[in-house]
Amino acid sequence: MCGIVGYIGPNQAAPFLIEGLTKLEYRGYDSAGIAVFDGEKINVEKSVGRLGALTQIIEQKQPQGCLGIGHTRWATHGRPSDANSHPHTDCTGKFVVVHNGIIENYMTLKEKLIAKGHIFKSETDTEVVAHLFEESYEGDFEAAVKKVLAQIEGSYALVFMTQLEPDKIICTKQDNPLVIGLGQGENFIASDIPAIINRTRKTYILSDGEMAIVTKDSVWVQNRQGVPVTKKVFEVNWDAEAAEKGGYEHFMIKEIYEQPKAIRETLTGRFNKDDSAVVFETLKWTKEELLKIKKIAIVACGTAYHAGIVGKYYLENLARIPVEVDVASEFRYRSPLIDEETLTIVVSQSGETLDTLAGLKEAKRLGSKTLAVTNVVGSSIAREADQVIYTWAGPEIAVASTKAYTTQLIVMFLFGLYMAGIREMLPKERIKELIAGARNLPAQAHELLENVDPIKTFAQKYGFNEDVFFIGRALDYCVALEGSLKLKEISYIHAEAYAAGELKHGTLALIIEGVPVIALATQEDVYEKTLSNIKEVKARDAVVIGIALEGDDQIDKYVDHAIHIPRADKYLAPILAVIPLQLLAYYAAKTRGCDVDKPRNLAKSVTVE
Ligand code: M6R
Repeated sequence: MCGIVGYIGPNQAAPFLIEGLTKLEYRGYDSAGIAVFDGEKINVEKSVGRLGALTQIIEQKQPQGCLGIGHTRWATHGRPSDANSHPHTDCTGKFVVVHNGIIENYMTLKEKLIAKGHIFKSETDTEVVAHLFEESYEGDFEAAVKKVLAQIEGSYALVFMTQLEPDKIICTKQDNPLVIGLGQGENFIASDIPAIINRTRKTYILSDGEMAIVTKDSVWVQNRQGVPVTKKVFEVNWDAEAAEKGGYEHFMIKEIYEQPKAIRETLTGRFNKDDSAVVFETLKWTKEELLKIKKIAIVACGTAYHAGIVGKYYLENLARIPVEVDVASEFRYRSPLIDEETLTIVVSQSGETLDTLAGLKEAKRLGSKTLAVTNVVGSSIAREADQVIYTWAGPEIAVASTKAYTTQLIVMFLFGLYMAGIREMLPKERIKELIAGARNLPAQAHELLENVDPIKTFAQKYGFNEDVFFIGRALDYCVALEGSLKLKEISYIHAEAYAAGELKHGTLALIIEGVPVIALATQEDVYEKTLSNIKEVKARDAVVIGIALEGDDQIDKYVDHAIHIPRADKYLAPILAVIPLQLLAYYAAKTRGCDVDKPRNLAKSVTVE
């Protein structure tokens, strides 16, 4: 996730660009830059670090000009650095772009452009767009942009400008947001409404495939086929704070709703051409090196630890390799049996959790290979590990982790499949089937999020209970752990997760009339056994909410309420099953009047022991 802005009008562009980027910093904050046309040429200023670093440069240099674009970055391709910051330019500096998203086929395009003599200055996927823009320009800005769009694949919001036609900016989008703010004799472009809300409340919200030609007095929109589109003006009536949350009441619910996109981005570029194998471009270990791994240790905290537990299932079941999972704060104090034949995977959204970082250092000291699964490019954990696989969830602001968890599961699943391929543990057909299933997940998550009313009702009904139990078997148990943590941390309800088969070894004593039990039953291999456990708690008069697959009518006979999730393979069901639990926690916390985004005593990133 990155933030982009653009300005064309009679006023100086730089003040709006900086103001807009400040409002978009929540979308990315590892580097920033602006490009302003001074009447003769385009001047680009950019800097690694928070926006403050760029602001200082702009205060000193005072770039002059009434046409400009800007960007605040959340690194994906290429670490945070001055060179990798946007805007990106072609070889001549006359063609400039800013981009939010991922250009999937950038490597192929880059090779072709290099062969034609183009010189690249950064490691980003975006720079290919600037060079393609130069290559495609034959005296017609609009035609050049269309030629560029015909060649790129992936997700994007893109803003183009060229000093050869400085009376306009052209912008377009596919799977990433873009709005145009309509002013009087001036127009604004931004990734999101907070950036423009102080300047205008009249906007056009671009749809996928639309391209807008923006001058100071007009905005002309056409679709992918070049057919003009009559846009409806969307009048923003949110206050500035609500606008930062995209109109949602809390960051947590906004991030829950961002999951289809986060999942899609995390899957992007991670399969070979015929979807028969997982590829990790960034992993530099050879097949021989990977085959030497005899054991995997997963180390993480909190939600990331729960993703690690799911990872153990994936790696052991798909790749048939032994896995241990440790809470990071315990790992280094238990003399773990780690050596050069071990791969240690550390999982951390922030990449800064002190215990996880210390676990990583300990694993390295013991000679283990190390792999970080993190959401933050250039974070301490990303820098310290031998290799990194990123989750492309975008910045997560709410303390309660949601989209980071689902994308961590995606990465663990992909890595399980990858290792299964290397170790030849799964037939190609099964790998293909699982990849096809993974590709369905964004749409399925979207479908789930369309129908949340029953979950709201349960949360309102049971939100005042002081104890809630979560039960499940196999992967359902792993998800139960995460569901229980979510409920505890934001609603302060006492919640416990149990392996359903373990109930009768003690916990059943706590099940009395009216106690809510959330029973996950998505795993077909253990389904009948889970039903027996549901019957056990029902016999003690618990109120049972079942989470089951679509088409499972049997469950409705045994539970008080059933939530059906879209049908998915047993390995993929956890990625969907957790979503109702996140929503349940969210609405329960709201019912109880809790501060959802900032739960008591907790911080987003724990950098103390
Ligand atoms: O940034 P990390 O993934 O390393 O953070 C680990 C935990 O602190 C984090 O997952 C925490 O448990 C969340 N608040 C849970 O929602």
